[in-house]
Amino acid sequence: MSIIDLARPDIVAMQPYSSARKEAAAQGVLLNANESPRSLLDGDEAGLALHRYPEPQPAELVKRLARLYGLPSDHVLVTRGSDEGIDLLTRVFCRAGVDAILHCPPTFGMYRIAAETQGAAVVSVPRTAASGFTLDTAGILAAVSRDQRIRLVFLTSPNNPTGDCVDGTFLGALLQATTNRAMVVIDEAYAEFCAEASAIALIAEHPQLAVLRTLSKAWAAAGLRCGIVLAQPSVIGLLQRIIAPYPLASPVITLALRVLQPDMQLRQQKLLQEIRENKKLLVSMLDKRSFVLDLWPGEANFVLLRVKHADRLLAHCAHHGVVVRGYAADPALKDCIRISVGSRQDLAALEQVLDDWALDDWKED
Ligand SMILES: Cc1ncc(COP(=O)(O)O)c(C=O)c1O
Repeated sequence: MSIIDLARPDIVAMQPYSSARKEAAAQGVLLNANESPRSLLDGDEAGLALHRYPEPQPAELVKRLARLYGLPSDHVLVTRGSDEGIDLLTRVFCRAGVDAILHCPPTFGMYRIAAETQGAAVVSVPRTAASGFTLDTAGILAAVSRDQRIRLVFLTSPNNPTGDCVDGTFLGALLQATTNRAMVVIDEAYAEFCAEASAIALIAEHPQLAVLRTLSKAWAAAGLRCGIVLAQPSVIGLLQRIIAPYPLASPVITLALRVLQPDMQLRQQKLLQEIRENKKLLVSMLDKRSFVLDLWPGEANFVLLRVKHADRLLAHCAHHGVVVRGYAADPALKDCIRISVGSRQDLAALEQVLDDWALDDWKED
């Protein structure tokens, strides 16, 4: 059985759209894409060539990402953020009204949104506060073997918002259980912040494995909207059948190449070190507060905590201009707050707001 057999038959059978830039490289006299002969912007002296469509999968960027992740270029798909990768995977592998995804809430919300948008069912194997929000690994394996509708298993490592990583031994068991059965997607949006080994090295052995990475977090470029799907070429080929013809805009491609230049790696290391240090400060700032009932420092650039009077604390922070994440709509995260690791100044502002909050005795009860 090949991975093609797991994909939607109509996607496999469909004749994909072939864009002008895909059919012919942007060389010579270009009269094939109904573009303008010149740009209106002086900025195009800087070489953006805005009047031209960009490369569908920019070769230089793909090459640089392939080198970064230690894979051949044909294992890389660049997308408009990881959000697009999640959407593409769901649309390729889930038939509306027939197939399902599995996810483990509380987790990143876009897996569910992508599934519901596609008309796929959502099988939840929840993490419970009582178990410290750890993955129910036995529950996941049982669901995969019991429920034949499951075509995609979404796991997040480290998880948002609980910060824990997927255990390597469990991942091995899951990959065994899903062989010829379902795709496993490991979302490593926060992987650079943790010491756990990446799942990328397992792609060579497992055609049903896809790993998601992004420039939004540790590469400090959320505004670029640049995500990456890593998988064997058969999976990448399926996603390419339905991806928008030009997912990355020309300025995004140019800036992504700048962000990934070799001299930036040193800057990135400095940034990661700063975030590690600031996270220690954040944890020690929160640890000593009596209104903090639970604290999950996790392995990423945020912490999760459960507090007394969460709604009022959130409102107090917002009132003083400090915006942290609350989960009023999610009963599984009742009274929980997620705080991103910011700069020293951000942390000082947060500390001031928390000090003010702690002044009134009733909040400490
Ligand atoms: C686990 C996880 N995956 C993916 C994303 C989205 O990443 P991107 O900005 O590349 O779309 C986020 C954003 O917060 C996230 O937490």
